[in-house]
Amino acid sequence: MTIEPLKLLETLARRVQLEQADKEALQGASNWGKQIASQMADVFYSYLGRDEEMNQILNSSEGRLQRLHKTFEDWFVEMFTGIDNWGKIYAERRWKIGLVHVRLGINPQHVVPAMSVVIKAVRERLRQDSQPETLENALSKVCMIDLAFMEQAYVEVSSQAVLQETGWTQALFQRLIATGAAAI
Ligand code: HEM
Repeated sequence: MTIEPLKLLETLARRVQLEQADKEALQGASNWGKQIASQMADVFYSYLGRDEEMNQILNSSEGRLQRLHKTFEDWFVEMFTGIDNWGKIYAERRWKIGLVHVRLGINPQHVVPAMSVVIKAVRERLRQDSQPETLENALSKVCMIDLAFMEQAYVEVSSQAVLQETGWTQALFQRLIATGAAAI
């Protein structure tokens, strides 16, 4: 895999302008994040459950939904703590989450709307609990970073699979994509 998760995280943090003040706002609110994590997981899985295709994936193995509830809560709380202050461990954890979804065939068309549901549900709780706008802004940035990890995993796994199977170079592959995109 050519991606270095920490490098990707640093690039994304720069691009969404995740500042020290955002990190402090998130870490300062991590107890609030823990308190609402279970409710956020309920909202999230009830949304996924209403989509026939996603519901099938969720219930296709024994105990999956229960396991997911717990992993979602952990993921949610990690957005506040940053695990290791948004360092190597955070990056590798996010990269692995991306890979898990790619292997399951869960694509951007599933993941992007799902993240928007998380953002909307959190926004409602922020308002309800009179949390500051600084926290809302910081959370949006981290959600975008986590979403970009999932998207990038998809692109990376797909292109690596083609390169491995065909023996093409990255440059040739890029040229073919550009030509193909121009023809569409
Ligand atoms: C905002 C988007 C999403 C987030 C943050 C998220 C979060 C997670 C996390 C943290 C894991 C555990 C990964 C691990 O084992 O290390 C996971 C696994 C999984 N997710 Fe998602 N997910 C998202 C979208 C989706 C969607 C749209 C589906 C569609 C059904 C889905 C279905 C699954 C499944 C089936 C697993 C594997 C469960 C197992 O261990 O058997 N996720 N997700």
